Amino acid sequence: MNVPMVNIRAQYDEIKEELWKEWEKVFDSMHLMLGPNMQAFEKEFASFCGASYGAAVDSGTGALLLALKALGIGPDDEVITVSYTFFATPESVLLAGALPVMVDIDEPSYTMDPDKVEAYIRANCVTEGKHLRDKRTGKILKALLPVHLYGLPCDMERLGKIAKENNLLILEDCAQAHGAKFQGKTVGSIGDASAFSFYFSKNLSALGEGGIVLSNDEKVTEEVKKLRMHGQTGRYTHQCLGYNARLDELQAVVLRLKLRKLEGWNRKRQEIASLYTTLLEGTPLTLPQNLSGRESVFHLYVVRGPRRDQLADHLKALGIGVGVHYPIPSHLQPALANLGYKEGSLPVCERVAKEILTLPMYPHMKEEEVRYTVEGIRSFYGL
Ligand SMILES: Cc1ncc(COP(=O)(O)O)c(C=O)c1O
Repeated sequence: MNVPMVNIRAQYDEIKEELWKEWEKVFDSMHLMLGPNMQAFEKEFASFCGASYGAAVDSGTGALLLALKALGIGPDDEVITVSYTFFATPESVLLAGALPVMVDIDEPSYTMDPDKVEAYIRANCVTEGKHLRDKRTGKILKALLPVHLYGLPCDMERLGKIAKENNLLILEDCAQAHGAKFQGKTVGSIGDASAFSFYFSKNLSALGEGGIVLSNDEKVTEEVKKLRMHGQTGRYTHQCLGYNARLDELQAVVLRLKLRKLEGWNRKRQEIASLYTTLLEGTPLTLPQNLSGRESVFHLYVVRGPRRDQLADHLKALGIGVGVHYPIPSHLQPALANLGYKEGSLPVCERVAKEILTLPMYPHMKEEEVRYTVEGIRSFYGL
């Protein structure tokens, strides 16, 4: 049996018929950019997440970068984020001209550890007017950028409290968590702004690339709309430098059709995760935990265990697609060497990165595929 790590074809098959009809309409109108589908999608997705406004962009990276800029974060500022994420998170802070300070994660959530954020602020920052200045870097600490990793929300209650006490903005990186909930609130509607990716393997995905910024502050999304189109405020009037970061109409059609399925697809992911968790009991693996108040949408089902690389090879030999998200934490990436982090700077995420393994997970995964994967794991450990 072959079990891929993700299967996006099945999603395409579900929307195929309607998709081609809707695409035909777009081609007939030749309204390929900033059209009615993109505008409708902005409203529909914002409403799905319980946020007031949306500005669709070209990618999750574009969403992070433009959201940071729209929140007024730039060269004099720094942002506390995590290293244990896809590289685009700290990268976007640097692309905005600001400095990322990366803190460690907690276990078992693998998300930003609020204790580490507090400890960093206590050890390094002094109050200056309304803001905190980081004595170590000379920058103003402006925002927190937590990542709802693998589909699991961060502890937004504690992070929200820290942000309030220290006059910090919160930008949520929701690239992996469309529809996840923290204490009943959908992520993306909790912070000052949020950034989503619609990269083709995400829970809600384009047939290519896409992203969106959500906010309850219309000024933020209006600023993103300006920045996504070369800082344009009227036809060929450019108020500031911006980017070409628009979501095209064909992808907006895909996203609108898939959005109608998202809740059901997320439920399937949760059911598959429960089945994995039941069947993997008694193995040496550490499994994703149920954490109070946090509802994961299982973008990925990530386990941890002994002899990770050998286990991965064993499963691959059985035709089971597995991966590691992510093998090198961002603070140890060559591109960020000048930030001064070293091996040992963030011990929890460095240890976790050596042990994690992503198992196959997609809404159309069949029970026999889950059972085959689990049997592969059991046979590796001689169970
Ligand atoms: C946590 C996280 N942040 C940001 C991004 C960047 O999104 P994109 O690939 O759409 O630019 C990704 C996606 O891969 C991600 O997983």
